[in-house]
Amino acid sequence: MHFPVVVFVPALFVATFALDNGLMRTPPMGWLAWERYRCDIDCEHDPKNCISENLFIDMADRLAEDGWRELGYDYVNIDDCWSSKERDKQGRLQPDPKRFPGGIKKLARYLHDRGLKLGIYGDMGTLTCGGYPGTPLDKIEIDAQTFAEWEVDMFKYDGCYSNATEQERGYPLMSKALNATGRPIAYSCSWPAYQGGLPPKVNYTQLGQICNLWRNYGDIQDSWDSVLNIIDWFSENQDVLIPAAGPGRWNDPDMLIIGDFGLSMEQSRSQMALWAIMAAPLFMSNDLRTISSKARSILQNKMAISINQDPLGIQGKLILKEKSNIEVFLRPLSNNASALVFFSRRTDMPYRYKTSLAKLNYTTGSYKVFNVFTEETMTLKDSAEFVVSVNPSGVVMWYVSPPAKLNLHQFYNGGKLLGSAYDDDDENAIPRVFL
Ligand SMILES: *[C@@H]1O[C@H](CO)[C@@H](O)[C@H](O)[C@H]1NC(C)=O
Ligand SMILES: *[C@@H]1O[C@H](CO)[C@@H](O)[C@H](O)[C@H]1NC(C)=O
Ligand SMILES: *[C@@H]1O[C@H](CO)[C@@H](O)[C@H](O)[C@H]1NC(C)=O
Ligand SMILES: *[C@@H]1O[C@H](CO)[C@@H](O)[C@H](O)[C@H]1NC(C)=O
Ligand SMILES: *[C@@H]1O[C@H](CO)[C@@H](O)[C@H](O)[C@H]1NC(C)=O
Repeated sequence: MHFPVVVFVPALFVATFALDNGLMRTPPMGWLAWERYRCDIDCEHDPKNCISENLFIDMADRLAEDGWRELGYDYVNIDDCWSSKERDKQGRLQPDPKRFPGGIKKLARYLHDRGLKLGIYGDMGTLTCGGYPGTPLDKIEIDAQTFAEWEVDMFKYDGCYSNATEQERGYPLMSKALNATGRPIAYSCSWPAYQGGLPPKVNYTQLGQICNLWRNYGDIQDSWDSVLNIIDWFSENQDVLIPAAGPGRWNDPDMLIIGDFGLSMEQSRSQMALWAIMAAPLFMSNDLRTISSKARSILQNKMAISINQDPLGIQGKLILKEKSNIEVFLRPLSNNASALVFFSRRTDMPYRYKTSLAKLNYTTGSYKVFNVFTEETMTLKDSAEFVVSVNPSGVVMWYVSPPAKLNLHQFYNGGKLLGSAYDDDDENAIPRVFL
């Protein structure tokens, strides 16, 4: 998953420290119930899809047996609507006994036995967003203890039914309470999403010190409009968001909806590519029991995952917005490599976008380029003009190797990259993980 190389760390990223629990040095990956399953508690009529231990066991089995876990997808995360409406006699949260007859601890054991991890959900307010018991200030310690006792590995703390003053106390307090349990529990904070996601209301320095990841913006829905809306908000505010991210502390644009109902295959590749550029957590919310092989191959694309998981953990950015409605994104990667995404916002037909690496401010040199979704490889001089054909609402995504010296033999044809031949020069070989 990681490039086997010496890491070059820009000074800017040495100065800030993440929450000191050692977790999530690269963006977390796994599965999260919310977007696809919401608050479906109707197990009588919808036994396969209701929020119950069976659903999480099914997804755990799929992660373990269908090649997901080996690629890094190892969290199985419960969201809202898992608990009973009442706390138990000792004042502790308890799962709904009908839907989770085995209890959460047994579910955690089931996952751990398969090399997976369990995430659970709570809310800073009096109630969760779905109307279940919340974890307000006076319940923080007891709930953190309960999660640790259940051997939970991650906790998402939502913000419904709480105000700004309570959140300012509650989110840091929960961080302390989780730490005090002695169990490493990754901590996902919805706090910024409830405060508009931007300074001065949101202090990203502080978030990086108390949380491993945080939701900055609204919930994703099963539609391309929703994905675009999120991408645009993250791009518009990238100068604030990029410095906030790094190993152990991630901006979270929300779940991957690839494999659901709202996205075409082009759009699915676009979500995968841009989530990789954004160093986003990769939590799928879909049905792994019935997912199509096309959607699966996008989610299991090793190169896209490797870019997402780059150990430097620098969040990438929108570098160019063309009048033609092509947008170019770049993410710096370890070993002086980079990822490029050409993204079409057009709605007419495939667009032939012409540029050169020099125009994208790459330094002089010869680069090896690996096309993430077609697996073509080619060599490209910085000055060489090339054309990429980008489909409507689709992407072309490249891994670009570190530059090698000039005057290597050139394998592009009339400046065109698509369909070009392989090149056997190994001067700047692509890390083996991709081949
Ligand atoms: C708790 O915090 C301390 C100091 O920040 C850190 O060294 C330790 O690993 C943390 N423990 C857990 C379980 O998160
Ligand atoms: C927030 O809620 C608390 C009650 O929990 C209340 O005392 C306080 O006045 C509220 N603050 C604001 C700013 O609304
Ligand atoms: C943000 O949080 C950091 C760390 O807790 C703190 O040092 C800094 O003063 C805060 N900034 C603002 C503007 O409140
Ligand atoms: C990255 O590039 C810089 C300057 O161009 C160079 O000093 C450094 O050694 C390179 N790092 C690696 C890991 O190749
Ligand atoms: C390239 O660098 C120039 C000069 O710093 C800058 O104006 C331009 O926006 C950059 N272009 C891209 C695509 O980053």
